[in-house]
Amino acid sequence: MIGVFDSGVGGLTVVREIKKYLPTENILYVGDTARVPWGNKSPETIQRYSAQICDFLVSQKVSKIVIACNTASAVAGDYLRNRFPKVVFFDVVQPAVERVCSENFFRVAVIGTKATIGSGVYQKKIAAKKGNVSVFSKECPLFVPLVEEGWMSGAIPSAIAKKYFQSFAARNVEVMVLGCTHYPFLIPTIRRAVGKNIKIINCATETAKALKKDESSQRQRRKPSKQGKDKYCFTDASPHYHKMIMRIMKEKISIKKISFKA
Ligand code: DGL
Repeated sequence: MIGVFDSGVGGLTVVREIKKYLPTENILYVGDTARVPWGNKSPETIQRYSAQICDFLVSQKVSKIVIACNTASAVAGDYLRNRFPKVVFFDVVQPAVERVCSENFFRVAVIGTKATIGSGVYQKKIAAKKGNVSVFSKECPLFVPLVEEGWMSGAIPSAIAKKYFQSFAARNVEVMVLGCTHYPFLIPTIRRAVGKNIKIINCATETAKALKKDESSQRQRRKPSKQGKDKYCFTDASPHYHKMIMRIMKEKISIKKISFKA
């Protein structure tokens, strides 16, 4: 069973992709809906929240953990790897960086939360792999509450997207990395705001591909199982979230409420 976690419903974009690429995998998802958003919190708080969730996932005997949150990948990834040395971690930043660097892109925009953009993780990792790429980053803090509210299209999200991306055209951006797992829910709105010519990289898809690559290298030793069974745990499971999660996953799923110390 793979553990997957995020601050809220954003990591479900990663779950959806994992289910496409690895349909027989069992997934245990944790969304910290009681404490979302994480993206405007301090690294210490994001590390503490992430560690509490990983303690829970380890207690449930997951074989690996996908940090399905750019914010946690950026500011808590190293911390978690040190704190849980026996756990195999996948994050959502590295696969997106690999994708950017594998193609002929030289002017890249990265959008994310305040914590992700503030960490400079994408600039650093892209620069370490390829020196001649310019990275323009932009915090888009209002996108996460819009998604958690289920308000993903229409005049208000469009106006916010236009405002956020107004500087990209002058910079001749070729590709935009959705550096937050909540953002894929806004792709139609984002697409309209940036126009047709900018390519969009979805870190959720890149992460699922990286997991599949890793699984295929080990699969020979294991028997393939049947269609995966997934479990969904949330720290707040109000009727609003119930409805939204089912809409996102397009299936009837039962949700377990779990809680952590403040
Ligand atoms: N989905 C998250 C990310 O990828 C976190 C958003 C938030 O809680 O602010 O960054």
